[in-house]
Amino acid sequence: MSASSVASKTWQTLATHAERARDVHLRDLFASDPQRFSRFSLEHNGLLLDYSKQRLTAETLGALQGLWWVADMPGWINRLRAGEAINHTEGRAVLHHALRHQGTRPILQNGLDVMPQVHAVLEQMRRFCNALHSGEWRGATGEQVLDVVNIGIGGSDLGPKMATQALAAHHIPHLKVHYVSNLDGAHLATTLAGLSPRTTLFVIASKTFTTQETMQNAASARRWLVDALGEAAVRRHFVAVSTNLSGVAKFGIDPDHAFAFWDWVGGRFSVWSAIGLPLALAIGFENFQRFLAGAAAMDAHFFEAPAERNLPFVLALLDVWNTDFLGAETRACLPYSQSLELLPRYLQQLEMESNGKRADRNGQDPGCPTSPILWGEAGTNGQHAFYQLLHQGGRLIPSDFIVSREADFPLPGHHEKLLANCFAQAEALMHGKTAEEVRAEMEAAHVPSTVIDRLLPYKVFPGNQPSTTLLLPRLDPYNFGQLIALFEHKVFALGMIWNLNSYDQWGVEYGKQLANRLLPIIEGRAPADGLDSSTAGLLAYCRRT
Ligand code: F6P
Repeated sequence: MSASSVASKTWQTLATHAERARDVHLRDLFASDPQRFSRFSLEHNGLLLDYSKQRLTAETLGALQGLWWVADMPGWINRLRAGEAINHTEGRAVLHHALRHQGTRPILQNGLDVMPQVHAVLEQMRRFCNALHSGEWRGATGEQVLDVVNIGIGGSDLGPKMATQALAAHHIPHLKVHYVSNLDGAHLATTLAGLSPRTTLFVIASKTFTTQETMQNAASARRWLVDALGEAAVRRHFVAVSTNLSGVAKFGIDPDHAFAFWDWVGGRFSVWSAIGLPLALAIGFENFQRFLAGAAAMDAHFFEAPAERNLPFVLALLDVWNTDFLGAETRACLPYSQSLELLPRYLQQLEMESNGKRADRNGQDPGCPTSPILWGEAGTNGQHAFYQLLHQGGRLIPSDFIVSREADFPLPGHHEKLLANCFAQAEALMHGKTAEEVRAEMEAAHVPSTVIDRLLPYKVFPGNQPSTTLLLPRLDPYNFGQLIALFEHKVFALGMIWNLNSYDQWGVEYGKQLANRLLPIIEGRAPADGLDSSTAGLLAYCRRT
């Protein structure tokens, strides 16, 4: 039986400590310790993690680090690396790190080295990317492919889509990569509206090749192509990425144009596999390899670094502290980068589908809140939308600020302002502004005292809002690979601390099951029997003429 951290002495110590920590203001922690930044920041391979604006002290951190042993992190890391079926509810190993493994060491699953098959698919991807970019691969009419449409959803969409946008500065010219995921026909229809069937290639990406949204979009895309170019054209305009190669063949895609991956790659961890094909097409295969290399560097760090210098583990501790001890219910992800605009959405799947769970590895209640609700938006856009609530809404909301030292699109005058805004927001959230400070500021501006008295309550900022700042050298494929792997390992560490299986997702099944029951009713093929009055009422309203 896996042990629960909640029952440990360390957890009790943290709970007692949190009682005191709740009354301490970050402003005072900074005032009393000029070394706070160096004490609570870490640098690794060019990434800087500043967590000095988190509401913790050296005592807090010391106690939190005890969770490394309580959760048996070294043991779980060994089990992960050894290919044990740590996804115990599905009986699967968790080996996405093998997809980016750079050395010659074998990585075993059931006693077999998975690396030869990983390398074979990478080689297939390399050849395909080069053929498409060079124009050697042509459509049915002999024209070069100008647009690639990836059809997938969840992990088969979010990872490559987010990464394609993140690495916009590295795109191959003359090839545009689009992503269609939504079952709503508007997504496919509006994407195809500007495209020509003669120059469009579809990548059908689905681990299972049964997902309703993807199968419907793929069928409609196929019809669009066949209507224009005939059945024989499918061969030159459709490729697939899946673990279900017989499903791919049944759909009519040439088995030679299918890219495999394996059940030990979870959907939300699959961007490193052939699911990353549209990304590799967008940025070129060499850049895709740099992306893998960055992630591999983060793997090595996570597997080897001690608790106190282990970036993913420290990030996990901050979530545990804020969620389980300070009572935060959400966490904001605030990338100061247009290119990272989709990161909050990607992390929503990565973190909430992995750790949004109420049954632990023993099938018991974990005894503490698990994944916080993750949300966010690119800065500075968010500043003009929801930051009001962060500053003065009265809720505890920890934030992650993510920014690069160098701009990926260096237009004069932009990046300095972006950095200034990012650091200023973190400072304002941390420090706040007291009534005395507001009064002094207004008096210095010669505001009449009656106006000061009237406006004062509105101009006070409580502060004490914790944040972490992650500073990247630049948003290139290598550093971006490090960043995404950092979050993946944080999810793993949190799963171990909360004693969860982070690699299943039973919670998405029930809705799918009910949708399958309602579909024949909506299509008029089955009677609307046995429904609750709300669902029955909604269906009846839809059928009204
Ligand atoms: O949302 C559930 C889920 O199974 C995800 O985990 C997965 O990434 C997504 O659906 C898509 O699944 P598939 O790649 O099999 O189409």
